[in-house]
Amino acid sequence: METAKTGWPVSVSFHQEVDVSRGCVLVKDFTGMVSNLFSARLLWLDDEPLIPGKNFRVEIGTKTVPGTVMSVKYKIDIDNGNHVPADIIYKNEIADCQISLSEKVVLNKFEECEILGGFILIDRVSNMTSACGVIQQGIRRLNNLVWQETDVDRQMRAAQKGQKPRTLWFTGLSGSGKSSLANALEKQLLALGKHTMLLDGDNVRIGLCRNLGFTHQDRIENIRRVAEVARLMNDADLIVLTAFISPYIQDRENARNIIGEGFVEIYVSTPLEVCERRDVKGLYRKVRKGEISDFTGISSVYEPPVKPEIRIDTSRCTLDEAVEQIINRLRPDI
Ligand code: ADX
Repeated sequence: METAKTGWPVSVSFHQEVDVSRGCVLVKDFTGMVSNLFSARLLWLDDEPLIPGKNFRVEIGTKTVPGTVMSVKYKIDIDNGNHVPADIIYKNEIADCQISLSEKVVLNKFEECEILGGFILIDRVSNMTSACGVIQQGIRRLNNLVWQETDVDRQMRAAQKGQKPRTLWFTGLSGSGKSSLANALEKQLLALGKHTMLLDGDNVRIGLCRNLGFTHQDRIENIRRVAEVARLMNDADLIVLTAFISPYIQDRENARNIIGEGFVEIYVSTPLEVCERRDVKGLYRKVRKGEISDFTGISSVYEPPVKPEIRIDTSRCTLDEAVEQIINRLRPDI
C-alpha cells in the first residue's frame, strides 16, 4: 500500500527488527519531543481535589504511562483569565502544572498536534478520568539525566548474598502493631541468615523526612521517599521491611510501582478500638484532647488495602504466630 488515510488499519513491516508496541509513534519531520516531563493546562474533573504529588495513569495518544502531577503553578480565573496562586485544585477548576512521567514518551504542544498534545489523567484506584488537559511544552530537564549502569549489578549482588530481594510493606493504623511485627520478623529473618533492613515511620521521620508533617501532601511525599529508598536497598539485594501507616491506596500503589517485583503488601488490620485501647505512644489520648490534628483513623482517613498479599490482625494472634504466618506465606522465596 503506497498511501493510507487517518483511521485506516494498516500493517507496517520494518527492514530491521525494532521493538515496537502499542503507544509507539512513527514520525517524519517531527516538531515534538521525546520527554518525561511537560508543562500542561488541565481541567480538574474529580470530586476529590488535586494535590501535587498524586500519581495517575497518564494517557497521551495511544500511550498510557504512570505519571505524577509535580506542582501546580497557578489556577486560572475563568471570568478574567487571571493567574491565581493555588496549591490545591478543586473540581471544575483549570490550572497550569508540571507533570512527570515514569518513562519518556513522544509528545507535542497541543497547538501543533492535537493527538500527541492532549492527555487525560486516570485515577489508579477508581479508573475514572480525573482530568483532561493540553500539553503546553515538553521539558528537557529530566532528559539530561541518564541512569548510570554499574558493573556490579543487582544480579551479582544477589548471587553474592544468595537471597531474593523483597520489600515487605506493612500498612495499618498507628498502634496496629506494624513496627512490632516488622521488628520481630526481621529478627527471625536474621536468624535464618537473611540480609535485611527495617525502615520505620518514626525513625525515618526523624531523619530523611524531618521536613514533612501529616497533611495529605506531606504523606504522599513521605511514602514516595520511602519507596525510592526501599528500591535502592532492594538493588543492594536487601530484604526491606517498612512500617508506615501509608493510609492512601494510591500512594501504596505508587510504592508498588516504584519498587516493582518483590513488593509485598502486608495489611495489619487491627481494629481502631484495639489500637486506641493499646495507645502505646499515648497519641490517641492526645488526639482526644485535641492536641494532635490530622490523626489517621480519627481526623484523617485510612484506606484499607483491597487485595493485600498478606493480612494480619494482631488482636487475634500472638506476635510469634503472626511472624510465622508471614514467613509461611513468603516461602519458598524467603
Ligand atoms: S504516614 O501516614 O506518612 O505513613 P508514618 O507511618 O510515617 O505516617 O508516621 C506515623 C507515626 O507518626 C505514627 O506512628 C505516630 O507515632 C506519629 N504521628 C504523629 N502525628 C501523627 C498524625 N497526625 N497521624 C498519624 N501519625 C502521627
